[in-house]
Amino acid sequence: MSSVVIRATPVVDDARLLDLLDDGERERADRRRDPNPFVTAHALLRRLVADETGADPRAIEFEKRCATCGTDKHGKPHVVGHRDLFVSVSYGERAAVAAVTRLGEVGVDVEDFASTDFDGFPSVTLDASEQGYFADLTGNDLLAARATTWARKEAILKATGHGLVVDPSEVLVSAPDVPAELLEWKAKEHPPGPTQVRDVSMPWPDHRAAVAVLTDRELDLDVHTA
Ligand SMILES: CC(C)(COP(=O)(O)OP(=O)(O)OC[C@H]1O[C@@H](n2cnc3c(N)ncnc32)[C@H](O)[C@@H]1OP(=O)(O)O)[C@@H](O)C(=O)NCCC(=O)NCCS
Repeated sequence: MSSVVIRATPVVDDARLLDLLDDGERERADRRRDPNPFVTAHALLRRLVADETGADPRAIEFEKRCATCGTDKHGKPHVVGHRDLFVSVSYGERAAVAAVTRLGEVGVDVEDFASTDFDGFPSVTLDASEQGYFADLTGNDLLAARATTWARKEAILKATGHGLVVDPSEVLVSAPDVPAELLEWKAKEHPPGPTQVRDVSMPWPDHRAAVAVLTDRELDLDVHTA
């Protein structure tokens, strides 16, 4: 397998996908006003893991572990019985992305421009040293730069398992117009070891995505879009 296999798909309304999910996932889907993003994403992840392991997608079991409180009720997902396989999934209203690798803990994130279109974005997301790059940008250029940066930071925080318990403004990444890189970890939480980050090209012009893996090995991305 390539070092990181990534699949992206538009969110679909297809009841047959429910057959791939387990009871817990179906219950979670039922509780959502719009279940389609959740169902699309979890079916995508199951199919990806199935293709990598040879398992029946319906038979795959996921377990969770919260890096902050230790519970198994929420947090980063892992595949039961495959400790050497690392997975991540991300979804929004219109797109879902899943990633699998054996290199190390992985985080994937997809963002649409609308989700970064709010006035407080710089203070919530950026360190003071990162804000200069964004100062002269407007319109779609600004939203694209924000989505790129946000996706990189969230991918890193999903790889570490912290999620937004760590303030993303304390995770410094390279400017959006240069290759993705974790530059500095200012958060009080224990910093990750070697961390690789890459932008992941999306077929939708108003989406940006990134993947991060806790490894010192170079990433070879194999990206498929439905
Ligand atoms: C992880 C997180 C950043 C994802 O946010 P998001 O943009 O809404 O969602 P995405 O679509 O990109 O990713 C969602 C998926 O991330 C995964 N995920 C959840 N928590 C995660 C974590 N701590 N680390 C890595 N992945 C996580 C799950 O697979 C989740 O999908 P699911 O909820 O459908 O099962 C956010 O949910 C978060 O910060 N969670 C941690 C909160 C926390 O730990 N609080 C302390 C509790 S003690």
